[in-house]
Amino acid sequence: MFGKRTTVQLPPAKTKVEKPSEAAPAPKSSKPLPGATEKQDQFSELKQRLHRKLVDQIDMTRMVGDENELRAQVREIVEKLCEQENTLLNFNERQRLISEVLDETFGLGPLEVLLADTTISDILINGPKQIYVERSGRIELTDVKFRDNGHLMHVIDKIVSQVGRRCDETSPMVDARLPDGSRVNAVIPPLAIDGPSMSIRRFGADPLTWDDYIRFRSCTPEIRDFLQACVLAHLNIIILGGTGSGKTTLLNNLSSFIPPEDRIVTMEDAAELRLRQPHVVRLESRPPNIEGKGQISIRDLLVNSLRMRPDRIVVGECRGAETLDMLQAMNTGHDGSLTTIHANSARDAVQRVETMVMMAGFELPLRAIRQQFASAIHLLVQAQRLSGGPRKIVSVTEVQGMEGDTITMQDIFKFEQLGVTASGKAYGQLVSTGLRPGFLDRLKSSGCTIDPAIFERRVLMRDEQD
Ligand SMILES: Nc1ncnc2c1ncn2[C@@H]1O[C@H](COP(=O)(O)OP(=O)(O)OP(=O)(O)O)[C@@H](O)[C@H]1O
Ligand SMILES: [Mg+2]
Repeated sequence: MFGKRTTVQLPPAKTKVEKPSEAAPAPKSSKPLPGATEKQDQFSELKQRLHRKLVDQIDMTRMVGDENELRAQVREIVEKLCEQENTLLNFNERQRLISEVLDETFGLGPLEVLLADTTISDILINGPKQIYVERSGRIELTDVKFRDNGHLMHVIDKIVSQVGRRCDETSPMVDARLPDGSRVNAVIPPLAIDGPSMSIRRFGADPLTWDDYIRFRSCTPEIRDFLQACVLAHLNIIILGGTGSGKTTLLNNLSSFIPPEDRIVTMEDAAELRLRQPHVVRLESRPPNIEGKGQISIRDLLVNSLRMRPDRIVVGECRGAETLDMLQAMNTGHDGSLTTIHANSARDAVQRVETMVMMAGFELPLRAIRQQFASAIHLLVQAQRLSGGPRKIVSVTEVQGMEGDTITMQDIFKFEQLGVTASGKAYGQLVSTGLRPGFLDRLKSSGCTIDPAIFERRVLMRDEQD
């Protein structure tokens, strides 16, 4: 079927595209044409053969030097091997074949083409033959495939070993990150039943900025200025939202308001934050080793960080017992700290915090936990991924205090969904609720002047129904 002289027709090469734009229509999913799968198999066979020959010819482990030079040397060898194969590839196809063999050798194989596409925000791999991506909030199936489970495992190994971790039967679930900061989670058999599974949250070269938020209608200039004043005035802020709602991106952007002279200590499970300030100490938790020892949790890091004279503590996500330490730190002089939690509304956030504080193992009465919460947290900011893909700041809520056993809160800004367009995309408006936060004096005394007019009840931004 694949003789000496072969004509291989390639599926169309994927193109690199520029910065994500919410306005841009989502490209159609690239379903293979009839017959294309066979051609692709032939192409992948050829690629595999070239790769094997390359590995036979050179010992990569002995090659040292600048990666660009090595790439150039290896490219030459691959070009020669490609000639020997005597295939009827046209110039573009040949170039693509060569660059894919190079990706296999130096990079992450089939993933490279997806990683080069900056419109992709998530890569979701369910076994070797099914790879989905998320673009502009929408999930689509790609025609990119790994050869088999072994090929995918090889790439997973390459990724996790770069950060000194491993993924095998004894530790079949692992978090890692790519050199560009993208977050990676891999789960392999026997836990993943249908083959190795990997989820990559891309953090492209340019993380989203406040300008992007405003361009994407995720926020308005008034809300941004208000949040900036809150960070400058050292309010303690929790960002809440569901999975993939934009919490970390928002945390990064809120942290960008911290003044450059403050000493910031960040703690994360996988370092995703990209702070631009000069004085930042970045800490990352560590999973247990092969004997189940040596784990350093976010809680350990948090306790340690209090001895590091931080001006600001930024915790990537509170998901367990560290929540109690976070509340205590916020209550004992580490004002201006920021974190995120997984919750679907401000009320839900309070309940989550209660549950997580209980995980710390102290039998604190509920009322005491609520009091801690009410006195530690000043503001809750909720991120949400709405149906059809848009991500927005959907509420900015002040924590006022306690009335009896209940924590009192009020929304300052909120998103009101008005409907869903024909294409299934939610639309609505961001409004000021007409309520003024009780901490305005605190903002003023920290030198942040906010125009009180932004709190008058009105629509700040309305989506177009495109
Ligand atoms: N306002 C926004 N508009 C468009 N895209 C956004 C917005 N905020 C975040 N994103 C994109 O959404 C994806 C998810 O964002 P992010 O990682 O911040 O979410 P998360 O809530 O922290 O997710 P997880 O629960 O997995 O930690 C990222 O690719 C990010 O670039
Ligand atoms: Mg996150």
